[in-house]
Amino acid sequence: MILTASEVNELKHAPAVEGVLPTVHQRWSARSYAGREVSKADLVRVFEAARWAASANNEQPWRFLVGSRNSLTHEKIASALAGLNKEWAPTAPVLILGMANTRFERSGKPNSYALYDLGAASSYLTLEAAALGLVSHQMAGFDHEAMRQLFDIPTDYALGCVIALGYQREPAALGNEQLIAREHAPRERKPLSGLVLSSWGEPAELS
Ligand SMILES: Cc1cc2nc3c(=O)[nH]c(=O)nc-3n(C[C@H](O)[C@H](O)[C@H](O)COP(=O)(O)O)c2cc1C
Repeated sequence: MILTASEVNELKHAPAVEGVLPTVHQRWSARSYAGREVSKADLVRVFEAARWAASANNEQPWRFLVGSRNSLTHEKIASALAGLNKEWAPTAPVLILGMANTRFERSGKPNSYALYDLGAASSYLTLEAAALGLVSHQMAGFDHEAMRQLFDIPTDYALGCVIALGYQREPAALGNEQLIAREHAPRERKPLSGLVLSSWGEPAELS
């Protein structure tokens, strides 16, 4: 049986923990995207959220290439996707490529936190998207060299993820059993006891 979009959306919401921001529970990585376009105003909001992420030395090393459906940028990002990403992600109305300057602008010295900071900014972006009722999906599965060449990206910039952005569609529209199964799959997380420690191998006592 194939679930409806709202059934999947409900399934994908993380179990709410009291006091945690609701958007954290709402965000999940969708693969089935509706034809509805993302407004310019909403695009500004998601990038504005990304802009306010913290970064080492306040360097703000992130840069984003953004392409809306039927644009050359969208077409180029889609063309460099790999594996199964190639099947579903081009249907998203917006494709974004995240990059990070691996050198500090003033000194030219290496910035080893550049990708860390891009990840933080991308998280803000996807959380803001969830708050706007959008779905998103970050992907490392693309041909990095091809992407670099397609956009003439300088070698100092590390490539992060492609982010698909848009509105959720019925999973059945994916038309591929493997993709539908992934859209139906419940989200899983490791328990806090394995992630938060008081010393190496010792879970922190949080309550
Ligand atoms: C750095 C990164 C790379 C990822 N690459 C891919 C990818 O290439 N293809 C894909 O389908 N999902 C990809 N994902 C999505 C993850 O599989 C997904 O975030 C994870 O399973 C947790 O699911 P959730 O985002 O719904 O909580 C990636 C996520 C991140 C953060």
